[in-house]
Amino acid sequence: MELPGEFDVSVRSIPIAPVPEGIGQSFWEDAPAAELMEVPSGSDPSLEFRKTLGMFATGVTVITTQVGEQVHGMTANAFMSVSLRPPLILISVDRRARMNALLREGVRFGVSVLEEKQTALSDRFAGRVRAEDALEPVFELVRETPLVQGALANLVARVVRSYWGGDHSLFLGQAEYVRYGGGTPLLFHGGRYERVVRDPRVFANLPEELLQPILARGVERTYADGEPLMRIGEPGDTMSLVLEGTVHVQRPGRSVKLGPGELVGEIEVLAPGGGRIADITAEGPVRCLEITRNDLLAALEAKPGAAVALIDVLASRFRETA
Ligand SMILES: Cc1cc2nc3c(=O)[nH]c(=O)nc-3n(C[C@H](O)[C@H](O)[C@H](O)COP(=O)(O)O)c2cc1C
Repeated sequence: MELPGEFDVSVRSIPIAPVPEGIGQSFWEDAPAAELMEVPSGSDPSLEFRKTLGMFATGVTVITTQVGEQVHGMTANAFMSVSLRPPLILISVDRRARMNALLREGVRFGVSVLEEKQTALSDRFAGRVRAEDALEPVFELVRETPLVQGALANLVARVVRSYWGGDHSLFLGQAEYVRYGGGTPLLFHGGRYERVVRDPRVFANLPEELLQPILARGVERTYADGEPLMRIGEPGDTMSLVLEGTVHVQRPGRSVKLGPGELVGEIEVLAPGGGRIADITAEGPVRCLEITRNDLLAALEAKPGAAVALIDVLASRFRETA
């Protein structure tokens, strides 16, 4: 029997590449030649593995090193902190990448943590743009190591160990230089760039005197524990202000609990065509004020100042993500 939330799982094998020569020693080299990995039936194991890993949101870095006069950079999100004492970090580099041939024990490399406006630099060092179209990066040399200027943080590390990592090599680096500044990081999730959105609310940003006439048109509704207020995909032509109790908002990659004074469904009521983007369920008894799209539009017509303020809020959202 298939229970809700359970997947039909079948076992498929994923071939594991043979241990390459010349990569540092580690007990992982004793890894078995083939491993079994369970994936939902019918799906391609490699793709499923890739997509599953892609759910782990990361920042984006550019790894740099200098060989003679030549600077080489490579975009990488497989970067992690390892140890505070001694200060160690780890990067994972594709064996086919040119960077892989440049790094070995004793070699210094730079890590520049990109800030949200540096997507073009990320694309450039991922080989995603033609050389002639590429943005020219500005490097600063620290300990003979190029670092990307304008990054959120920079580190210089020296490779102290390298390990076999299947089709990647793992380079453990001891940090020799670190610095960070203010700003917002560029994120990578689900195979694409993402931005940190600090405040997802829309109507809550309206001045009180413009919000009140909209809420005044609302109709009170109550929900019992576990009762859904909204379900993903359903038509989204209402929004609700929580007056009492707690609601649980769940959508892919986001799960939050909201209480009195919070609005739910405000994106969908503005753009109802795509349906609800979240499942919202009452946690215990909940009392809400429900405002329909028709009431909202009537309120905006009656008070055009509210419509203008709403446009300002939405435009600043676009600016954040443009
Ligand atoms: C966001 C992002 C993250 C990436 N992370 C890695 C990584 O962690 N390790 C890696 O080997 N390649 C990674 N890549 C791919 C490399 O940047 C790409 O293969 C690059 O062209 C290799 O450069 P090179 O061969 O000139 O050294 C990433 C690409 C992108 C766009």
